[in-house]
Amino acid sequence: MGTHKPPASTSKRADSRVAPAVTAVEMGARQREISVSEFFTKNRHLLGFDNPRKALLTCVKEAVDNALDACEEAGILPEVTVKLEVVAVGSSAVLPASQATRFRVTVADNGPGIVRAQIPRIFAKLLYGSKFHRLRMSRGQQGIGISAAGMYGQLTTGKPVKIISRTGPKASAHYFEVQIDTKKNEPLVHENKQIEWDQPRGTQVAIEVEGRYQKGRASVDEYLDQTSIANPHVQLIYRSPDGETKEYPRAYHELPPSPKEIKPHPYGIEFGMFLKMLHEAKSQTLSGFLSSDFCRVTPPLADEMCKTAKVSPSAKPRDIRGAIAETLYRTIQATKIMAPPTNCLSPIGEKAILSGLYKQIKGEFYTAVSRPPSVYRGNPFIIEAGLAFGKAPDSETKPEKPAQPLAEGEQEEGDSELARVIRYANRVPLLYQQSACAIFKAVLATTWRNYGISQSRGALPAGPMVIFVHIASVWVPFTSESKEAIAEYDEIHKEITLALRECGRRLGLFLRRRERAASEFRRRNIFELYIEEVVEACNRLKGGKLPTEKLKAQLQKIASSRTGGIKTDETLGKTGAGPEGLPHSIIVTAEGIEGEASLTAPVSDEIDIEEQPTSPQSERRHTAKTRSAKKGQGKVATIPSTPKKGASSQRQAGAARKGRKAHLAGKKQ
Ligand SMILES: Nc1ncnc2c1ncn2[C@@H]1O[C@H](COP(=O)(O)OP(=O)(O)O)[C@@H](O)[C@H]1O
Ligand SMILES: [Mg+2]
Repeated sequence: MGTHKPPASTSKRADSRVAPAVTAVEMGARQREISVSEFFTKNRHLLGFDNPRKALLTCVKEAVDNALDACEEAGILPEVTVKLEVVAVGSSAVLPASQATRFRVTVADNGPGIVRAQIPRIFAKLLYGSKFHRLRMSRGQQGIGISAAGMYGQLTTGKPVKIISRTGPKASAHYFEVQIDTKKNEPLVHENKQIEWDQPRGTQVAIEVEGRYQKGRASVDEYLDQTSIANPHVQLIYRSPDGETKEYPRAYHELPPSPKEIKPHPYGIEFGMFLKMLHEAKSQTLSGFLSSDFCRVTPPLADEMCKTAKVSPSAKPRDIRGAIAETLYRTIQATKIMAPPTNCLSPIGEKAILSGLYKQIKGEFYTAVSRPPSVYRGNPFIIEAGLAFGKAPDSETKPEKPAQPLAEGEQEEGDSELARVIRYANRVPLLYQQSACAIFKAVLATTWRNYGISQSRGALPAGPMVIFVHIASVWVPFTSESKEAIAEYDEIHKEITLALRECGRRLGLFLRRRERAASEFRRRNIFELYIEEVVEACNRLKGGKLPTEKLKAQLQKIASSRTGGIKTDETLGKTGAGPEGLPHSIIVTAEGIEGEASLTAPVSDEIDIEEQPTSPQSERRHTAKTRSAKKGQGKVATIPSTPKKGASSQRQAGAARKGRKAHLAGKKQ
């Protein structure tokens, strides 16, 4: 097929249509530099501005991500306000939010603020930022977020970006209006003055953009909901364009541990990058360069690598070029080097994930898993997964909405019988390109049927279930600059799968347990049917002198203890027990089950109706049990589950529970 030649007549016809030939000189006259701003103006879909609905989301997202990054880096618990307002176009009246085409996005934070001199470049120069040149976990990484949003605003409405920033109560607040000179990729400052601002510290950015506001999948509302799940330490206020105010209170009162910046790991570095580093090295010796510019390379290891590559450890790094550099590079890649340190990562943590999940999603079962750190291409990463399963008792079916055309990434709401996957990278929700993402692929590839969940071939598992997956990394491998999907590295796929399997296993355990409890409950009902009759019969035998109520109570107690006791009621959600704010739900962690009451204290099967209360010991047990059952109402029951594990794991479980109790107490503050 490849050797097939077109008939001569075709090529002749083609020739006659070719435009006049151009000389190299003429071409040369047209060749000129393309600035990044011009490039991204034409290719704005690469940055997430392909349609008006998505563009509105991207603007909010870039500003919120920056606010959270800045607060966390400065050690400040973030308080962020997002306001969307409809803007009238020309002289026409202000339209309702669902029909409007122009919006003002205002995002304010209580972060460290930005020094005056930097403001124009941050908001009106692409590829300018503090995060690109270092290996540290953050939401932004390219330095192209907020300036691209500003550029999109400028392009669609012609309006400048308006910024207020203040670095502390003693400093004055500065107000700027900036635009981007797309030819030069440089800022143009239209306004720059000191103003009065009621906030002691922070940054506020306002951008006017062409957009479309619609709730539902991949909307601003969904992005903020999901942000709040993965960032329970953030206090968020959202003023929607239809005039509603939604508050997301802080559920977790600690900042995530600040991730450390790391040096690149030798395994992650490409050859060209290695050459560049050699050229720019500050160390005088090769050995010094290797041990100071890379992580996990000690001076003895550096010497050893030089020796193996047959170069002098005291050679000047700048002099290492060509074949020698290549040999050295190969030697380094072949040397066994410890995996990079992981204090550069700040995972959300199982407790915070649970906190976030049950704050936002009502269900019956919750679990979360944080995997140990792993490495892809030399970059450390951590996968975390969580599951919320079941319908809340009060969830009602939503009223039917008229059909509306859907934007990319949107789905019909009728897909509720399938699980929903919520994806995160460095705590940022990913709302588009689900099917291209390693997370989604791993969810599909997991055999959920093993855990008692039905799943059609190549489809999401079925059931009222939200699957949460987070990747934390110093460099998240996105498939494009708009940061919507994670590339499928083998190591990443494997870790996601392992985390999902663990969640699935725990869910399977819960479902089986609930099934068993349901059958015990049916059995108990049958017993109870007969108790009345038996008591009547006994009373007749005793000539009507029997304390029937007491006997009934005792028989009922036996029936209950024989059918799983209070545990059955717990598992079926009949006692109203469960974590705070979420009665009827159960949390399963690696340590066991929370929100679960103790096994009923063993009850003696002997009926001794003559004696006044049962033995003092069982009486004590009984009160303890009632207390625990009461405690379960609206609170986490802190009684350990069936002691199966070793003493140490139980101690751990106790500690974890204590921590959680403290955390829940903190929630009320
Ligand atoms: N709200 C803010 N508070 C403090 N600094 C900010 C804020 N927004 C942006 N910055 C600074 O501006 C830089 C550029 O932001 P951005 O264009 O979004 O790129 P990126 O977030 O990828 O670095 C950030 O790296 C940060 O240093
Ligand atoms: Mg950013």
